[in-house]
Amino acid sequence: MDYKQQVAQAIAMAVDGQLDQAEIMAKIEVPKALHLGDYAFPAFVLSKVLRKAPQVIAQELVEKISTDGFEKVEAVGPYVNFFLAKDIYSQDILNQVLAKGAAYGNQDLGKGRNVPIDMSSPNIAKPMSMGHLRSTVIGNAIANLLAKTNYQPIKINHLGDWGTQFGKLIQAYKMWGSEEEVQKDPINTLLGYYVRFHQEDVENPELDDLAREWFKKLEDGDPEATKLWKWFRDESLQFFMSIYDKLGVTFDSYNGEAFYNDKMDEVVNLLEEKGLLKESKGAQIVDLEKYNLNPALIKKTDGATLYITRDLAAAIYRHRTYDFAQSLYVVGNEQTNHFKQLKAVLKEMGFAWADDIHHIPFGLITSGGKKLSTRAGNIILLEDVLNDAVSLALKQIEEKNPTLADKEIVADQVGVGAVIFHDLKNERLNNFDFDLEEVVRFEGETGPYVQYSHARAMSILRKADAKDLAAGNYELSDSNAWETLRLLGDFSNVVKRAVNEYEPSVIAKYAIHLAKAFNKYYANSKILVDDEQKQARLALVKSVAIVLKESLRLLGVHAPEEM
Ligand code: ARG
Repeated sequence: MDYKQQVAQAIAMAVDGQLDQAEIMAKIEVPKALHLGDYAFPAFVLSKVLRKAPQVIAQELVEKISTDGFEKVEAVGPYVNFFLAKDIYSQDILNQVLAKGAAYGNQDLGKGRNVPIDMSSPNIAKPMSMGHLRSTVIGNAIANLLAKTNYQPIKINHLGDWGTQFGKLIQAYKMWGSEEEVQKDPINTLLGYYVRFHQEDVENPELDDLAREWFKKLEDGDPEATKLWKWFRDESLQFFMSIYDKLGVTFDSYNGEAFYNDKMDEVVNLLEEKGLLKESKGAQIVDLEKYNLNPALIKKTDGATLYITRDLAAAIYRHRTYDFAQSLYVVGNEQTNHFKQLKAVLKEMGFAWADDIHHIPFGLITSGGKKLSTRAGNIILLEDVLNDAVSLALKQIEEKNPTLADKEIVADQVGVGAVIFHDLKNERLNNFDFDLEEVVRFEGETGPYVQYSHARAMSILRKADAKDLAAGNYELSDSNAWETLRLLGDFSNVVKRAVNEYEPSVIAKYAIHLAKAFNKYYANSKILVDDEQKQARLALVKSVAIVLKESLRLLGVHAPEEM
């Protein structure tokens, strides 16, 4: 049943035709506090037509509205406040959650259509940054949300595995490299070569020419260059995989920039055919003045293609391969201009589907107020962050629950989950500060707190031997349970909002809210007392466990049964 619809219907009948139901639906609000009811109608919407003060209209409406199906309907100032009938509502919602289980909240927004998501996309031979972590976990959560709403997400890791830097890397390796050194610690070693190259080419500019030659060779398929490139790529990818394993994130495709090497001629030819390419100081550009953007640089003077050229090829390839409903790019907001250019060029090329491309930007992570960057030497290594989080989680488990079985596994789920949850609970565009102690706390608005609430619900169910409680008609009149019930009933809307706004924080905030409401309920009600509502209370507890677990799953976080 749609309760908001029910409210709108009752109002529509009372105003007989002055407003239609759709207009009323648009005006209905959800009051900020529970004592003001579950829905509210602002009577001033009618004051122009009725030429009366809204307070008066509210009073008159209350007299006319049928209270059928409501606990009560009250006028408070200019508002008409509706209180839903708790018995009907609790029966309906608890039955739905128990019957559907993890599928509760599923809905068909996508009609099965494809949505490629460009996410994570780290650069080969460089450490994965906190920005790549954000892209990985935000992208993964959006993919889960899309799947829940019947889209077909396709997670693409657009690896940064091509570009002139590989010429430099090969040249540096030829001068100073050793196979053993690279194998021992691939990323840091390769990064070291790269940094050293940049130090030495200041004095020896001819190094740049050598590097350019290597990149040219690489582009022309020279066997030695290709072999080294492939080796650097494999070593880096293997290392990245260990991080993805820890995070529990998988990909459907690892087609990175190099994959588009043989697909760029087509793009350049198309641009030429459409008369969009212009020469500027020997380079080929597309003018984007009418979009108020800088020109897009498609080909350098020496004929080398660029990041955006590869992205153009990738966009076209994805459209062809997936016939997408939307094509998403989860990439930091420092690349906003790049994606504006990408869309603008595609538009200029006459592709209407350019409108279905969405850049999903996100903010920076700072530490102690300072930007975290790999360049300034302020390196935070992701694997260190995750390992530290797991140790902290283990420490807390040792204190709180020393006899817990599988402590290491749970600590892993809590530590890693804490880092993911912390990242996702912040609105993605906000910058935020990273303080590990804060992130892994078991109290406060953290992942462990939500996991802990879920584990508490599971422990109640174990005690009552009610883990398999079936769907049925459970009537819960306890007003202590109302906030929790309302939140459970709101889950589908929350999922919808999160997916429409590409905003996992909506789910994270909801999970915190539900966990808090449930803990308040738990503190004020004796759940296990034997009376006629015991089964209904257990049904509520089980429903909370289901929805908390599903919320965490959407975010990519495990929900251990005990912790
Ligand atoms: N490798 C890039 C970087 O680390 C991100 C790539 C994002 N995806 C894309 N299709 N441009 O900055």
